[in-house]
Amino acid sequence: MEKFKAEIAKKLNANASQISLYWKGRVGFYALLKANGIGKGDEVIIPAFTCVVVPNAIIYLGAKPVYVDVNKDTFNTTLNHIKEKVTTKTKCIVIQNTFGLSSEIEEIVEFAKEKEIVTIEDCTHGFGGSYNGKPNGVFADASFFSTQWNKPFSTGIGGFVFLKDKTISQQLSLVNEELALPSFKEKLMLGILIKARKFLLNPTTYWTLLKTYRFLSKKGIVVGSSSGEEITSVIMPKNYFKAFSKTQEKEGLRGLKKLDDLLETRRKNGLLFNQFLKNNGKTYVKEELYKNHSFLKLPVLVKDREVFKFRAEKASINLGDWFVSMIHPITKDFSNWELDDKEFPIAKEVSEKILNLDTDTKNPEKVITFLQENLNEIV
Ligand SMILES: Cc1ncc(COP(=O)(O)O)c(C=O)c1O
Repeated sequence: MEKFKAEIAKKLNANASQISLYWKGRVGFYALLKANGIGKGDEVIIPAFTCVVVPNAIIYLGAKPVYVDVNKDTFNTTLNHIKEKVTTKTKCIVIQNTFGLSSEIEEIVEFAKEKEIVTIEDCTHGFGGSYNGKPNGVFADASFFSTQWNKPFSTGIGGFVFLKDKTISQQLSLVNEELALPSFKEKLMLGILIKARKFLLNPTTYWTLLKTYRFLSKKGIVVGSSSGEEITSVIMPKNYFKAFSKTQEKEGLRGLKKLDDLLETRRKNGLLFNQFLKNNGKTYVKEELYKNHSFLKLPVLVKDREVFKFRAEKASINLGDWFVSMIHPITKDFSNWELDDKEFPIAKEVSEKILNLDTDTKNPEKVITFLQENLNEIV
């Protein structure tokens, strides 16, 4: 796997020895928390607008997720919000790149350093993009990335960690020794899914395939993004702490070759869709944020999500659903995850209205026509 690590490291202006590979991004996050000795009685600050696997990893270790509201322009946390939540028990602050955008990251890292709090960048959406002229993911003590289906580049499912602060390298190596190897069946299934996606996925088949994949992965019939247990409980699934495989590496090396072109397409389409939203008085990404945005997805806020999704399906327009809940995809009863949704009005409101446009489309004009025809549905 050294070649893959070296290619990733190149993009981060780093060394291959600073990269560790995992079956999924969340597994890398868990490994980082564990290597930092985070456990019972510790608090970890995270955004109240994320994927449930983030609080899960914290809870699996016996620590407590402490949520922070997001800013309505960036959908990211701010230093001011974070400061309000820091206690003597805070051991780690997670700084998320959302949809390709990082914000206030240098300020948050500086604040955390003064307080001797570890910082981890959740860079699952940000690989290949940059923040203030440096690659996303190089600011915090460590960062984790995802290479799951819809991420900057894909290995089917997968993820990796970049360790900037080398003081915990040894601890991380020890933790990594516990990784189980994926089974032959899991690797085979993933290989088949990668091929099937390549040959079958297009705008006409998108919605049918998405629904089928989600159904099958929920039932545990195919390797999925999240197992049923991860969204119904906070007990660590038996098969969770797993290593990266050769099947993933092969696909990852192919993906990395195409990454620069893809980044350019995403940025071009993201800016085009955003300009349309701005011109029509809808919620849009502010111009001062463009330089730090890689537009993995372009968020749209809509009046009625079901109506908008139904129309998109009819028009064969791909739509993402990050994060249609504050701890996606959990929609009700957040008590297992110690989240009181009323405490975070912006994250709550945004998660009730958001959908996201794919920015890697080959036919951006069709998306613009769709938006034009459904302007009344957009907020
Ligand atoms: C913000 C965020 N963090 C973490 C993850 C977990 O990544 P992975 O699916 O590779 O475990 C995701 C997944 O989509 C995500 O959106």
